[in-house]
This record gives sequence, C-alpha cells and structure tokens, in this order.
Amino acid sequence: MQSTDHYRTAFTSYLDNKILISEPRNLYEPIAYILNLGGKRLRPVLTLMATEIFDVDYKRALDAALAIEVFHNFSLVHDDIMDAAPLRRGKATVHQKWDVNTAILSGDAMLITAYQLFENYAPDTFRDLAKLFSTTALQVCEGQQYDIDFETRDDVTLPEYMMMVQYKTAVLVAAALKMGAIIAAASEQEQNRIYAFGLNLGIAFQLQDDYLDAFGDPKTFGKQVGGDIIENKKTVLYLNVHKDGNDKQKKELLDLYSIQPKNPSIKIDSVKDLFLDSGAAERTQIAISDYTEKAFAILETMDISEDKKKVLRGFGKQLMARKV
Ligand code: IPE
Ligand code: IPE
Ligand code: MG
Ligand code: MG
Ligand code: MG
Repeated sequence: MQSTDHYRTAFTSYLDNKILISEPRNLYEPIAYILNLGGKRLRPVLTLMATEIFDVDYKRALDAALAIEVFHNFSLVHDDIMDAAPLRRGKATVHQKWDVNTAILSGDAMLITAYQLFENYAPDTFRDLAKLFSTTALQVCEGQQYDIDFETRDDVTLPEYMMMVQYKTAVLVAAALKMGAIIAAASEQEQNRIYAFGLNLGIAFQLQDDYLDAFGDPKTFGKQVGGDIIENKKTVLYLNVHKDGNDKQKKELLDLYSIQPKNPSIKIDSVKDLFLDSGAAERTQIAISDYTEKAFAILETMDISEDKKKVLRGFGKQLMARKV
C-alpha cells in the first residue's frame, strides 16, 4: 500500500496519455480542457487504493479509475450549466469558454467514454462494473434533479436534503471504492462495507462542499464563492438555520431567498451572517465530523490490516480539513 500522493501521480500520468484531442476539435478540446484543469482526483485515487487494500496491483484499476474521473468531470460540465456557474477550478467553465451546446455534447461524449473504458475488463468484471456504474449514474441524475427542484421550494426538509446529497455525490464516492473491491475480487461483504464507508465519507464531503461554497476563500477556492446562495440552493447551511435559528432569522432568510438581485454581494453577505449568527455554520461543521466518524466506524468492521485502515482514515481526515 502506497501513499495517496503516489496513486494521484500514477493516475494523472495515465490520464495524460489517454486523453487525446482528435477531430472534431470542438467536441474533444473541451473534454481535454476540463480533465486537464486538475481537481483533487479524489474518486480515482479511492478506486486505486481500494484495489490495493484487497491486495491486487492498482494498475489493474486504472481504466475503472479513469472511467470514474471522466464521469465525474462530465457531471461537472453539465452541473455548471444547470447551476449557471462561471468558474471551475479557478478557470472558466466549459459553457462559458465555449457555449452551452458545446458543453452539452462534450459532456455526452464523456459519459459514453466512461462506459467504454469498462470494456477493457474481462466479461465477469465488466458486467459487475458496468452494473454498478449504471445504477450509480442514474442515482446521480436523480440527485441532480432533486437539487434543482429544491431551488424553487421553501419547504425542503433535512431528510430530503440528505437523500439528495447521497444521490448526487455520495454514491459516486462509494462506487469508486467498490469498483476497486470488484476488480480485486473481494468478498461481497467487504465490497458492501467499503461502499458504506464511501457513502458516509461522500455525505461528509458534500456537506463540506456546501460549507466551502459560502465560507471558502475566493483566492483559492476555485469556484464562485456564494454561488449556492445566488442560486437559492437549499444547502445544509440553509436548512440548519431553519433548525437552529430564531423566528426573525428564519424569516429574514426566507426573504433573502425570495430575491434575485442584479448585484448579489449584499444578499451573499447577509445570508452568510445568518448562517454564522444562527449557529448553522457550526452545526454543519459538527455534522461533517459526525459523518466522517461514521465512515471510520464502518472501517473498523472491515477485515483488513490496521495499516490499511490508517491510510483510509488519513484520507478521510485530509478531506475534512480541505479548503478546496
Ligand atoms: C465537486 O467535486 C462536485 C461535488 C460532488 C461536490 P470535487 O470537489 O471532487 O471536484 P474536483 O474534481 O476536486 O474539482
Ligand atoms: C455537484 O454538486 C454534484 C454533481 C456534480 C453531481 P454541486 O453543484 O454542489 O457541485 P459544485 O459545488 O458545483 O462543485
Ligand atoms: Mg454546482
Ligand atoms: Mg449542482
Ligand atoms: Mg457545491
């Protein structure tokens, strides 16, 4: 078992050799652009690590890891259209740099490329990977639709939100790990445990994403800070105000979420003050740590060495402390 940096480097050089620009350029250039913008490479690293956790060489998992990363980037290209986001990883989003039609079609091609990468596996492994991938990809679409539906509702509940983030984000983190376990032919029980570990880590990850969307440092965050507030997203911060805030704070938040000012900076600042003053920001931090701990508790039930558990715990802790 190697360090996470080792897997990230190995993955990135594999990606560099595989992602080539061909004709028509307006289809493939945006794909190379988004994939070369970097990002944390969280999901493919998890796939490679999971393979080695179950004692198989990570190199056998490189195509599955690439499939997961290409799918993730596809979902970002379409997500940025849906969220009207101008920035991704500190650079213009694909629909901003080219146009919406280009972003739709390049995204479609990425989804197909992701599927195609599973064809490099033997039939039994291919079947298991493709099956998991189809289920997961459909759940991501469901999560994304709930996310959009929630923008125009003011009665979204915390359990509804939890379901939404489980679908739009956590299932892919979980599937990334389970794919490693599938490639390593781990027992079904261990496959399910590592999936459950990833699901809880993925939930913590999305809560943190919501937190950083409001409180990240604009100089380093890489996305538009306050983007969720502009789009009236019912994030965990918003829902926690409804839980912890007093009546005045709740009303103020509802009022702020009913306006779409041309210059959103006053709205963003007022909403952030409400997140802080109501205790919603603090409660969100606690929830991030709770879900991470829940993931660690599942890790404890797994039949793998303490050294390997330590690597996964270290990864989880790094995620919790992240600023981007
Ligand atoms: C962003 O994912 C979308 C979410 C599911 C929160 P990441 O934060 O993993 O994005 P990159 O790939 O590192 O840029
Ligand atoms: C993204 O959620 C989930 C998917 C892309 C499937 P967000 O909309 O919160 O992700 P960011 O914040 O734009 O990265
Ligand atoms: Mg978004
Ligand atoms: Mg979104
Ligand atoms: Mg977000």
